[in-house]
Amino acid sequence: MAGKKKIHLLGFIQHGVNSHATGMWRHPKDKINWDWSRPPYWQHMAQTMERGMFDAMFIADELAPYNNYEQSSDACVKYAVQCPTHEPSTIVPIITTATKHLGVGLTLSTAFEHPYSMVRRLSSLDHLSSGRIAWNIVSSYSKSEWDAYGAEMTNRSDRYERMEEYMDLCCQLWDSWEPDAIIADKETGIFADPSKVHEVNFKGKYFSSKGRSFCYHSPQGRPVFWQAGSSARGRDFAAKHAEAIFAVHPTVDRMKQYSDDLNQRLSNKFNRKPGSVKLIYGLQCIVGESESHAQEKYEQIRSCIPLEGALAWISGHFGPDFSKYDLDEYVQNIEIPGIQGLFESIIYAKGGDPITVKEAALYYAMGMGMPVVVGTPTDVADKIEYYTDEGGADGFMLVASYTPGCFEEFVDLVVPELQRRGRFRTSYAGTTLRENLLQY
Ligand SMILES: Cc1cc2nc3c(=O)[nH]c(=O)nc-3n(C[C@H](O)[C@H](O)[C@H](O)COP(=O)(O)O)c2cc1C
Repeated sequence: MAGKKKIHLLGFIQHGVNSHATGMWRHPKDKINWDWSRPPYWQHMAQTMERGMFDAMFIADELAPYNNYEQSSDACVKYAVQCPTHEPSTIVPIITTATKHLGVGLTLSTAFEHPYSMVRRLSSLDHLSSGRIAWNIVSSYSKSEWDAYGAEMTNRSDRYERMEEYMDLCCQLWDSWEPDAIIADKETGIFADPSKVHEVNFKGKYFSSKGRSFCYHSPQGRPVFWQAGSSARGRDFAAKHAEAIFAVHPTVDRMKQYSDDLNQRLSNKFNRKPGSVKLIYGLQCIVGESESHAQEKYEQIRSCIPLEGALAWISGHFGPDFSKYDLDEYVQNIEIPGIQGLFESIIYAKGGDPITVKEAALYYAMGMGMPVVVGTPTDVADKIEYYTDEGGADGFMLVASYTPGCFEEFVDLVVPELQRRGRFRTSYAGTTLRENLLQY
């Protein structure tokens, strides 16, 4: 088994009734006797993922219901399209106190929060979790978020420019306390050495800050930086800052192209080693005792998708109001201001062949455009190995199709198969999330 590349696994969810399979909440196996808005559900989800030795639970987030389908959020509310969604950082201590090793990837937008409080929040969580936090750095791509916060939406390039400055200030604040600044000498009464707690004096185009960080150096120093930008600008941002990337590509060729592109950016533009950023690709696994059993499960999940909800979701993620388009129109011809990287998952869903608005909506609503593997544990493990070896994946973000069941099944059926093949850890090597991600 030596020489085989090992993989990382994460569970992709939201702090809401529905994650990324539209209509999931109505699936007969979804949340049986579990209330997603109460701690026991999150404790169980976390313990299930830790039982399967996942690197982390990854919490996506949006700041408000999408409002561009028919110029309203009605369809999102009506069909639970990522709505309701509660604040993501509130469940982090529940997850991390129920577990010892599992990390948490937390999506927090830079759009409406000052870097000073962002650093304070993330450092506090890194302390409380003993160093198991990753930050998925986003800038709010959806107009509904800007409307909810009463702000004028800025364009993609402005958002990235602002986010560069945001990161600069955050990193200065994270470096404010040197790791050995605390003396805690009861005899002299000196708690910390002020010469090792640096005052930040930042004056930028978008932000100013003068003062020391309020949190002392956390176990990881700063959270693991995670990124999912996929436009050319987004890939540069990711190649510059990220330690791990989340991307969705429907085919192995697209994965490979992305892996090559990112690794080139790392070395050519940012003087970083190719392979030094973990490339985690989205995947939907529908596992059954037999192929026909898995196929039945697939059909059942698909039958839960309401077309109107699916159209509202692609409107939310990509920007245009898809109620205005003919269902048979090809999406390739439509200009989109929203999440470029995820739109490409649709464009290439049929290997580059034209795809209609209706097909695109239903395809996307299954699991956010992720490739879907339907089969036995052996089939699923085969596909995971293929994407790893041929697509350059370092690991997979497993989208939820009904919870907690889909994760329980993956952990019980697929994880042992991956371990048997020498593709997945059999114990956690490190104590922090960064250490576990860097384990291989
Ligand atoms: C796989 C994936 C997952 C994402 N998840 C979120 C999310 O949970 N919340 C969010 O606000 N943005 C999310 N985004 C949006 C991006 O992080 C980014 O802000 C957006 O794609 C705009 O940048 P881009 O045009 O460079 O892709 C996601 C993007 C991708 C590709």
